[in-house]
Amino acid sequence: MGRLWLGVLAATLGWAHDPISTKLTYTREISRLLIERCGRCHREGGGAPMPLLSYADVRPWAKAIKEEVLERRMPPGGAVRGFGTLADDTSLSQEELHVIADWVEGGAPEGDPAYLPTLPREWTEPKPAAVGPGVTVKAGTVLRQSLRLGAVTAAKVAEGGSVKAAAQLPDGRVEPLVWLHGYRRKWKRNYALESPLQLPAGTRILIEPPQAEIVLYGAR
Ligand code: HEC
Repeated sequence: MGRLWLGVLAATLGWAHDPISTKLTYTREISRLLIERCGRCHREGGGAPMPLLSYADVRPWAKAIKEEVLERRMPPGGAVRGFGTLADDTSLSQEELHVIADWVEGGAPEGDPAYLPTLPREWTEPKPAAVGPGVTVKAGTVLRQSLRLGAVTAAKVAEGGSVKAAAQLPDGRVEPLVWLHGYRRKWKRNYALESPLQLPAGTRILIEPPQAEIVLYGAR
């Protein structure tokens, strides 16, 4: 096949007005990410308005997907990654965000169907963490007793607002706890730490914005 034919073929396979300028493809990288992170809701009966399980499902939503993930509205309920060490973290990493955005900006190419992953037979829901009793704290609260922290959740956070909480230990070290962005009350979930964090008496809780509160749960 001559060069001309290769060019014509490439043009026919591409989408009419979006020149392809990325090596990322749906079948190789994007399908795996979207199925794993979005599929449990974005499928028949999963609660989200449309499925995102095939290229045909995803392509018309490409621009919206890029916006939702960059704004961190999707997947919903997640904490910002890299701030605190949470178990069962469902949010996208910075790198995953950029893979999705670059693919969309690069024309959202499909790629070779041979690389498509198989869909899971079952979809697992994240389980809420088993936690001990909780105590609600404000910005500046100093713990009078030590606490083996197992999970945290937000309280008194404005709908759509953000909250960032950390613990300043008596030795001055600051341990990031959780950062929630675009908070929605309907998430009603707690955020379990990957491993319990020992907070000695005298630990000061730092919260931004200062009018928000958080709930600290002891580890089981
Ligand atoms: C926990 C369930 C859940 C997960 C996980 C989830 N979504 Fe959604 N998604 C929803 C719901 C519900 C809506 C409907 C709008 C709303 O309630 O915010 C939605 C709406 C959307 C929309 C449409 C927004 C609009 O323009 O109206 C896009 C795009 C989207 N999701 C992309 C994604 C992507 C990409 C992922 C994975 C990275 C994802 N979602 C993960 C539940 C989910």
